[in-house]
Amino acid sequence: MSGEFEGKVALVTGAASGIGRAAAHAFAREGAKVTVADINAEGGEETVSHIKESGGEAIFVKTDVSKSDQVKALIDKTVETFGRLDYAFNNAGLGVGIGIPTADFTEEDWDLTHSINLKGVWLCMKYELIQMLKQGTKAAIVNTASISGLAAHPADPAYVSSKFGCVGLTKTAGLEYAKTNVRINCVCPGPVKTGLMDRVEKAIPGSAAKAKDEVPMDRVGQPEEVAEAVIWLCSDKASFVTAVAMPVDGGEAAL
Ligand SMILES: NC(=O)c1ccc[n+]([C@@H]2O[C@H](COP(=O)([O-])OP(=O)(O)OC[C@H]3O[C@@H](n4cnc5c(N)ncnc54)[C@H](O)[C@@H]3O)[C@@H](O)[C@H]2O)c1
Repeated sequence: MSGEFEGKVALVTGAASGIGRAAAHAFAREGAKVTVADINAEGGEETVSHIKESGGEAIFVKTDVSKSDQVKALIDKTVETFGRLDYAFNNAGLGVGIGIPTADFTEEDWDLTHSINLKGVWLCMKYELIQMLKQGTKAAIVNTASISGLAAHPADPAYVSSKFGCVGLTKTAGLEYAKTNVRINCVCPGPVKTGLMDRVEKAIPGSAAKAKDEVPMDRVGQPEEVAEAVIWLCSDKASFVTAVAMPVDGGEAAL
């Protein structure tokens, strides 16, 4: 542990697996106490166990980020347990209906995608900001958008629009709070080897190989590679960085 975040408290949503779990581990490695939030209780508790086994401190709070009462309770529980909130990684997200073009897309899949990928990020920021501004100390929020929030691709209308929305929301809030101690950025991962990628591959066979072929580095990313960008954005090393949408994508956003 380098201890860079010693005495600090981090909150990670979607931390039961994939990028969120890797980030929760990385925050703990840096010495932060971590609140692990997810709708998946089994995976969330597992992340907490891993952190505790490595000598860290963590709690799991079962949370659906699309529900305001649950998000408010998540922040309350974090502050009640650890006394403060310094870093938040709003990462929970999903992709449903991927491969279906706009005219055929269902309202149900549209609403589900946007309620988690966009409204969920806003709700988390809303309650995190209230706490962070009350503290008045240095704090940072990082959201998970996607390269699908920087460039469109066909047959993915809800996911792409939710991630473009996440980028817009991040930049708006970054500007709104630029004169405070709170910096707000997002990461835009390219294809990363997680359960999400596996589910898309199942729905659209060949999609994983196609995604890899589109990456200039000619490989997909690992969750830990996104987590390290999040840690940097939260650290004092990124002290002049706010309202940024940062690709973590092996060069794909430059194409
Ligand atoms: N894997 C990729 O290729 C990729 C690329 C770009 C962006 N992303 C984004 O990264 C983020 C993390 O995804 P991942 O790839 O690690 O996939 P993942 O499926 O492993 O992780 C997503 C997590 O979010 C949780 N979650 C889903 N709905 C939730 C809700 N309503 N409330 C709380 N938690 C909820 C899931 O239970 C899961 O643990 C997502 O926002 C995703 O859109 C992923």
